[in-house]
Amino acid sequence: RQDEREELYGVMELAVGLYREALERSEEGGAARRYLEGRGVDGAMAEAYRLGFAPDRWDYLTRHLQHRSVSLDLAEKLGLVRRRDGGGFYDTFRNRLLFTIADIHGRAIGFGGRVLDDSLPKYINSPESPIYRKSEVLFGVSLAKGAMREMGTAIVVEGYFDHLALYQAGVRNVVATCGTAMTEGHIKLLKRYAGKVYTLFDADGAGNKATLRAMDLCLDAGFPVHVVELTAGEDPDSFIRKEGSEAFSSRLARARSGLDYFFRQLVRDEGTATVEGKVKIVDELAPRLAKVGNDIERELYVREMSRVLGVDPRSLVRRIGGSGSSVA
Ligand code: CTP
Ligand code: MN
Ligand code: MN
Ligand code: MN
Ligand code: MN
Repeated sequence: RQDEREELYGVMELAVGLYREALERSEEGGAARRYLEGRGVDGAMAEAYRLGFAPDRWDYLTRHLQHRSVSLDLAEKLGLVRRRDGGGFYDTFRNRLLFTIADIHGRAIGFGGRVLDDSLPKYINSPESPIYRKSEVLFGVSLAKGAMREMGTAIVVEGYFDHLALYQAGVRNVVATCGTAMTEGHIKLLKRYAGKVYTLFDADGAGNKATLRAMDLCLDAGFPVHVVELTAGEDPDSFIRKEGSEAFSSRLARARSGLDYFFRQLVRDEGTATVEGKVKIVDELAPRLAKVGNDIERELYVREMSRVLGVDPRSLVRRIGGSGSSVA
C-alpha cells in the first residue's frame, strides 16, 4: 500500500532526526563523537551521511514515537523496535553508532548500527521491510549517483567506513554492499548510472570470495568489471589511512579486468607446472571466456591465456565452444 509506505518513510525520518540529535548534542553521544573522531570522520561527513547515535536505553526511540502518537506497529515493520514477550516494545538499536541507509532519492530506509568497542556483533542492521529491499539497495548511492554518471564508472566496496573513507578522500563514485553478496538487483541499479564497475573488496578471504562472485555476476550481465587489489589484510578505509590517497589512486589505476584477475588467481593457486593444474585452470576458465560477448576481447584473452598455459589456442577455443574460432 502506497500510503503505508509513505508512513514508513515518515517514521524513518523521525528516527533519523532523533538519533542525529543524540549524536550531535546529547551527553550520552560523547563516546560516539569521540569514536568518529578517532576514525577520522568529521562533522561535515557526519551530516552528509546523517550519522546518528542510539543511546544505551531500551525505550529511547520507543518513547519518542509514543509521545508523537506514532504507531509502534509501523516502527516494528521497520525493525526499529521489537515486541516484548509480555507486551509493549523495546528499541532494536542500543548503544550503537548508526549509519543511515538511504535509497536513490536519499530517503532513509534503514540503519546499520556499529558498536563503539570490540563487542559482538560488530554490526546490527535493519531487516528488510516494505521500503527496504536489500538486494536492490547500495549504501551511499544517493551521494554517489552524480559522480557515477559523470565518470561512467562505479566503485563497489564492502563497508560503511570504506565508503566514508573514499568519499572523504574525494573518490565520489563509490557505493557499498554492506557485507552482503552482490546481486543482480545491485547490477541493475549500477547500470542505470555507470557503464563499468570496479570491485574494491577487503583483501581477505571473504573479500576474495565476494570478488569472484561479483565477477561472475557481471560476466553474466555483460557488465564490464575491474578488480582493485589492496595490500593483504587491508580494506579501503585502512588502506587509505595507512598508505594515503596517492597509493590508493595508483591501485585504482592498476585495476585488472575481472577475467585477468581471475586467471592470475588460478595460476597462482593451481600453478602451471603440472598437467592437472593446467587442466583445472582451463576447466574454470573456458565457461567464463564463453560469456565474453566481444569477439576481439575474447580472442585477446584466448591468445594471452593459452600462451601462459602453453596450450594450443585452438584447443582452448574448442573448449569454449567454437565461439572464439577466429583465433584458429
Ligand atoms: N557487516 C555486517 N554485519 C557484521 C559485520 C559486517 O553487516 N557482523 C557489514 C557492514 O556493512 C560492514 C561491512 O559488512 O560495514 C564490512 O564488514 P567488515 O569488513 O567486517 O568490517 P570491518 O572493516 O572489520 O570494521 P569497520 O566497519 O569498523 O571498519
Ligand atoms: Mn572484519
Ligand atoms: Mn570484510
Ligand atoms: Mn574496516
Ligand atoms: Mn572491512
